[in-house]
Amino acid sequence: MTQDIHNAPTVVRATSLGRSIQVEPLTCTIGAELGNVNLGVAAQDDSLLAEIRALLLKHRVLFFREQDITRAQHVAFARHFGNLEDHPVAGSHPDHPGLVQIYKTPDSPLERNENSWHTDATWREKPPMGCVLRCVECPPVGGDTMWVNMVEAYKQLPEDIKTKIAPLRARHSIEWSFGAPMPIEKRHALKAEYPDAEHPVVRTHPETGEKILFVNSSFSTHFTNFNVPSNVRFGQDKSPASSQLLNYLTSQANIPEFQVRFRWKKNSVAFWDNRSTQHYAVMDYPPSHRKMERAGIMGDLPY
Ligand code: SIN
Repeated sequence: MTQDIHNAPTVVRATSLGRSIQVEPLTCTIGAELGNVNLGVAAQDDSLLAEIRALLLKHRVLFFREQDITRAQHVAFARHFGNLEDHPVAGSHPDHPGLVQIYKTPDSPLERNENSWHTDATWREKPPMGCVLRCVECPPVGGDTMWVNMVEAYKQLPEDIKTKIAPLRARHSIEWSFGAPMPIEKRHALKAEYPDAEHPVVRTHPETGEKILFVNSSFSTHFTNFNVPSNVRFGQDKSPASSQLLNYLTSQANIPEFQVRFRWKKNSVAFWDNRSTQHYAVMDYPPSHRKMERAGIMGDLPY
């Protein structure tokens, strides 16, 4: 296993203000908690923003505690990394477009479960580059979120699997996920507005050049170019061989050695690289409430 994180400095200087960001890696493969940073201040400091971006690329998900910031500051911080986008099913805050409300309360209009491994919005042609999620209200216990490092998941695949999946592409569908509980007309309208996307099964990180295993069990439905003579001897091979390989690949997200688990408190923030990770929000807390607000940052076309 690659463990670059062990070589990481635990303290990084923010040169412009002489302020130091404290960096505490949470596992050997993914996640670091950053101390001595206020995201409201960081949003106005280019040198701090550059350090946070570098740390994001290194640790893939960054955690910040005690961020008693306004919604405007939350949005302003995330906007430094790109434009924000709303979600077609989850609503955004009425005064803050791009700040998606993930509220789980008894009166929540949303029948929306995050307890499934996913990279956000891979059903988009250009899925988000990252997301900044702040906890507004959390249950007394439970409601943790887990992230998994999909660069490490790719690295540790057997070589013959890497060779087999190199040319493959996969379909990603909002209809299949968020559309499923909708009445048929509404589901079809959703699909018409957000047609399925197709992405490489192994994408390249646009900033680091790393290879990433880029299929997930929430949105990836099938390989689009599997059924060729080298993979299919008889018709019987088509469906089982293809779906078993896809299941094997998506199941890599379940491996604990690639994961980190974060316990939320009010005003905790997570900033993740959505290109190289998946996440899973643990739904163990009902009937307690949980309210999260997420700024999703637009991304690039995966290649
Ligand atoms: C998400 O799936 O983007 C939100 C995760 C969470 O609510 O913890």
